[in-house]
Amino acid sequence: MKKIYITTPIYYSSGKPHLGHAYTTILADVIAKYKKAIGYDVFFTTGMDEHGQKIFDVAKKIKKDVEQMLDDNAKIFQELWKKLDISYDFFVRTTKQKHKKIVQKIFSYLYKKKYIYEGIWTSYYCPNCEENYTKTQAIKKNGKLFCKLGHELVFKNEPSFFLKTSKFQQWITNYFQKHQNFIYPSFRAKELINNFLEEGLKDLSISRKTLHWGIPIKENKEHVIYVWFDALFNYLTNLDFATKKCQNFTKYWKDKKCEIVHLMSKEISRFHCIYWPIMLKMLNLRLPNKVIIHGWIINNNEKMSKSKGNVIDPWQYINNFGSDALRYFLVKESSFENDFNFTDKFFCDVYNHDLANNYGNMLTRIVGMIKKYCHDVVPSLTKTNLDHNDQKIIIKRKEILKKYKNFINNYKIKDLLNEVQNSYLLLNKYIDETKPWILFKNREFSKLFNFLNIIFNFNCDLIILLSPILTQATKRIEKILHLKLNFELLNKDHAKLKIHSCPPLFERK
Ligand code: MSP
Repeated sequence: MKKIYITTPIYYSSGKPHLGHAYTTILADVIAKYKKAIGYDVFFTTGMDEHGQKIFDVAKKIKKDVEQMLDDNAKIFQELWKKLDISYDFFVRTTKQKHKKIVQKIFSYLYKKKYIYEGIWTSYYCPNCEENYTKTQAIKKNGKLFCKLGHELVFKNEPSFFLKTSKFQQWITNYFQKHQNFIYPSFRAKELINNFLEEGLKDLSISRKTLHWGIPIKENKEHVIYVWFDALFNYLTNLDFATKKCQNFTKYWKDKKCEIVHLMSKEISRFHCIYWPIMLKMLNLRLPNKVIIHGWIINNNEKMSKSKGNVIDPWQYINNFGSDALRYFLVKESSFENDFNFTDKFFCDVYNHDLANNYGNMLTRIVGMIKKYCHDVVPSLTKTNLDHNDQKIIIKRKEILKKYKNFINNYKIKDLLNEVQNSYLLLNKYIDETKPWILFKNREFSKLFNFLNIIFNFNCDLIILLSPILTQATKRIEKILHLKLNFELLNKDHAKLKIHSCPPLFERK
């Protein structure tokens, strides 16, 4: 059985989730569900990044006990994931004992191996992104230095532990060049080489002496572990790496045949594509197969983020349009190459066109015709009297069934959605041209039954192909059709199936 381990970033627990978090998590969930649907054994994880300066500062600012804030925020994230039908297999919180112990073990191991040493950390630091900048990488404005997201940098000069990442600069550059599929889309690898590798990779400061909100370092209790060193290892601690009960690590990480995929947006690609592979290399562990990087959701031409205060709340769309609508929109408009500007109008247009008019209305129309012309039972195909229009639809159905696995295997879900929407276009045309109401009036029953059988079967496939995204609608349709919808039912003939009335699935807005 094929296997895949897929992850989202773990989100900072400094506030509520916004549309950006929902975007990545939905994409990962949809990939996980599609892979499961075509027979993969899937392990999918997400969770909360709960240490670091930013978390500590926010708790202080809102006058909340840090742990209380973390519990509250983890709960809010999990409530949102539940509402959005996100089916993760493990939800990590980095303040949990298991995670902390494993990270300490890894730190001690790398220290013993002399990959970690003590020194003085002098750097320009972004406390918001928890990221180092050199003077050349920083953005200069009015004599001040800023990070790429526009936060002011703070100069740091303090004792620290370092990870010898500089030793691996050539290795990682070569790795990118030899493994063109490692980073998707591949142009991001060039960006990373230009921005971070060409000017020389510095050793990474991986401890803080001036902060206490982190995992204590056993070798020197005055320090805690830097949040990114702590957080990246969630991808191993989720699988119980370096514990007695490490079946999942053996099953999903050690087995080279298991596909490992990390998903995120571009601002954290440096950590996942440069530092994370180096850490794995130091531990003598295999690398992930793919780091998939998507663009940002932007709001009024600016990245949506908590620090800018321009975040969009996913709940308002879920409450007005349903969770399926948000899942569908974010997958349909997702882009690995570009950012996309979120507007209410855009959201509403896609909802009305794709979900209300095509998906929902098509089923209502077909069910209505089967009720009216065939006493609620899907008619059989007579195979005689098939005309050009019937043949066209049969061919289109075959085509999409031939292609869908390829789309899923190559993470091109958006392309699959485009195929599905093209099919709806064709089916609408098929109805207009066949004019079933005239066939009925003229008592051309064999033609009418062929038409209804063909259109019902094809539409069923389209519903199944969208089922990993439209989880709620699928449940409702299963009741209408009295059928458990899964990918094994693709390409089946549903003749003789008894169906029930179909209330509108997506009301027009
Ligand atoms: N805690 C780190 C990640 C550690 S992973 C080992 C972090 N957290 S975060 O809360 O800032 O989340 C960043 C991730 O949230 C992005 O990589 C992306 O997946 C998602 N997004 C947050 N804002 C986004 C947009 N405006 N647009 C698209 N995705 C965004 O970084």
